[in-house]
Amino acid sequence: MSGQLVREGHTGTGPGSITPDGCAVELYARLSVGDEPDVIASALPSGASVLELGCGAGRVTHPLVERGFTVTAVDESPQMLERVRGARAVLSPIEGLDLGEERFDAVVLGSFLVHTSDHRVREGLLRTCVRHVKEDGVVLIQREGADYHSDVPREREDPAAGCVIRILSADPVGDGVDEVRAEYVFEDARWTQTFRSRELSAERFEAYLAEAGLVADRSLTPDGVWVLARPDRS
Ligand SMILES: C[S@@+](CC[C@H](N)C(=O)[O-])C[C@H]1O[C@@H](n2cnc3c(N)ncnc32)[C@H](O)[C@@H]1O
Repeated sequence: MSGQLVREGHTGTGPGSITPDGCAVELYARLSVGDEPDVIASALPSGASVLELGCGAGRVTHPLVERGFTVTAVDESPQMLERVRGARAVLSPIEGLDLGEERFDAVVLGSFLVHTSDHRVREGLLRTCVRHVKEDGVVLIQREGADYHSDVPREREDPAAGCVIRILSADPVGDGVDEVRAEYVFEDARWTQTFRSRELSAERFEAYLAEAGLVADRSLTPDGVWVLARPDRS
């Protein structure tokens, strides 16, 4: 574990450092990036300033930097941040982040972090987004796909990384929250992560955004996984 912070219900196993939410640092340094940088870039003007929340080892950060965005990358794991290159790295829990008067063209809350089981944390994450986005800026949020909790077990390959990713189970632990178990199998290593995730209907998701002062504007992907929201200045 890094620091004293523990995220209840989150654990991980395997070689190297494990973050408070159960992610393995070396695993995230190995995994390939998907369409995230393309989706994010599609919503931004060139050269935009981007605040990336929960950046991990820079899987998404690095392609954004390569595309010419100025990225401030935030994570609560120093071991993750050590892997980040070309971006300003800020060590902080997202919900406690305070960059003073600084505002960004875009704030990115990826990796399904909005599905946290903890209502206070979710509120804090979304308020951090609002606090740091420019008046005319955008907040890009990655949601779970429709069958994320029901299509289990499932697996997919990350051929470039040489990894099989399995979501083994998603079992209710009460209050609308599931305990999700995942494994990542490489030829030379295996990691697991167990974490809590709250399923969010579109209505509930939008209600949480509204509570934080955000309005969902549109989906950036046909599956509705990436949502562009704006600060509600009305
Ligand atoms: C699943 S990893 C994904 C990392 C990166 N976004 C990616 O796609 O490769 C989640 C990361 O978010 C960080 N994280 C999760 N909750 C956080 C919080 N509340 N505050 C700061 N960092 C957090 C973890 O330390 C971890 O590095």
